[in-house]
Amino acid sequence: MDLIKWEESYSVGVSEIDRQHQQLFTLLNKFVLNFGAGNTRDELQSVLEEMIDYMGYHFRCEENYLQGHPDFAKHRGQHYDFVQKTLQLQKDFMEKGPGISQDVLKFLIVWLKNHVLTMDTAYFTDMRKIAS
Ligand SMILES: [Fe+2]
Repeated sequence: MDLIKWEESYSVGVSEIDRQHQQLFTLLNKFVLNFGAGNTRDELQSVLEEMIDYMGYHFRCEENYLQGHPDFAKHRGQHYDFVQKTLQLQKDFMEKGPGISQDVLKFLIVWLKNHVLTMDTAYFTDMRKIAS
């Protein structure tokens, strides 16, 4: 499965958020790699928990930056949906272990890529315009 790699085009122009995105990509990649490497359920479980914790922290930070945006609710809604999807993955994983569908992993990678490249970059650009 393709991993997610941070490149300059993912930059939102705020180094704190760029660093958080890189860390989030690292954690998602770690889960995908561990998943394919025959790790135990406990090992995978702890990687998944680490990723979910970090995701919550990151979304809260990002929402602090974006809360003045006129379409903020839409952005927060996307974060919420993504968290729900990831929690569903965690639930499935606890029930089925490594038997979970690979499609969910692909979905998470594609979603994160698209979200950062389109929504995050656009919203942060708007916020700079609003501030100036
Ligand atoms: Fe976002």
